Formats: sequence, C-alpha cells, structure tokens
Amino acid sequence: MPQVSSPKQLFVHELKDMYYAEKTLTKVLPKLADEASDRELSQAFTSHLRETKRHVANLEKVFRQLGEQPRAEQCPGIDGIKQEHDEFMEEQRNGGSDLIDSFLTGAASRTEHYEIAAYTGLVSMARALGERESVELLEQNLRQEKDALKKVESISKRIFKGAAKGDSPRARRATSASRRSSSKARTSATRSR
Ligand SMILES: [Fe+2]
Ligand SMILES: [Fe+2]
Repeated sequence: MPQVSSPKQLFVHELKDMYYAEKTLTKVLPKLADEASDRELSQAFTSHLRETKRHVANLEKVFRQLGEQPRAEQCPGIDGIKQEHDEFMEEQRNGGSDLIDSFLTGAASRTEHYEIAAYTGLVSMARALGERESVELLEQNLRQEKDALKKVESISKRIFKGAAKGDSPRARRATSASRRSSSKARTSATRSR
C-alpha cells in the first residue's frame, strides 16, 4: 500500500478496501445461500446479493466522482471473516442443519457489523471533504447494511431458539422420561410372556 499523506488519500484508501470487501461478498453470498437450509435465511442471502451488487456499483460511482479509477485493495479484515467461515464449514460436514444455519447467521452478522463500521467512517469522511454526492451514495449502502443486520439478527434468534429447544434441560428430561417409560413397558411385556 502506498503511503497515505492527505485526508483525501485516506478516504480513497478506505474506498478501495471496501470495494474489495463488497466484490468478495458478491462471490461469497451465493455460496451462503446454497449452504443455508432455512428458506428465509437462504432468501435473505440471495436478496442481499442483489443489494451487494448495487453497493459495488455505488462505490464505482464514488470513485468516478473523485476522479479515480475504481480499484480494489486487498482487505485482510473481510478475508479473515471469510476464512473463519471456510474453516468451520470444512469441519462441519456432518453437523445438524440448524447448527450450520445458526453459524451462518453469526458470520453474516459479523460481516454486516464490519460493513456498517466501514460505511459509517466513509460517510463522515465524504461529508468532511464536502463530497456531497458521495455522501448520498455511501449512505444508501449504509442503510441497506443496517437493514440486512436487523433481518439476519431476527432470523438468527428464531433458528437458535428452535435448536436450543431440542437441547434444553426440560427437553432432555422429557426425552429421558419417555425412554424410561418405554423400557418399563418392555420389561413388563417380557415378564407377562
Ligand atoms: Fe455491502
Ligand atoms: Fe452487507
């Protein structure tokens, strides 16, 4: 990375970083939609993919408004989130689908938080630099990231609640009680023979 020596250069650097992140996400989101078993979650990934493509286009407009060519700069932040996902999925081939779905909602939330932080910074930089059209475009992206986060958080609660229900102390007691009563029934059936 070339040395940054002005506020505008820092702004452009952060834009390149986000451009890389958004372009990476256009490749990752179709995979997430395939991996999700929950229909609502899978659809949320597909609809966020459409939004993400618009985020890429908005960033390209911002570059042009600044008189710059759209260029990506590798962002280890988003690469790290992606790598964490890849390693988990590699080890979870036989995991339950609701657990995988829960994990995917967590990975998605982390990504949205990352994007929200980045766009919040970009919006305030654009505002300080007097780049009003860029502010508008970056705010559009920021709003959609915030909505995407809310959506995935509510899906996450529903999925994890369902998974935890089957694993709650009460559910475990109910399962062992039914196991006890069926073994009693088997014993008395053997005796009466
Ligand atoms: Fe995005
Ligand atoms: Fe996003």
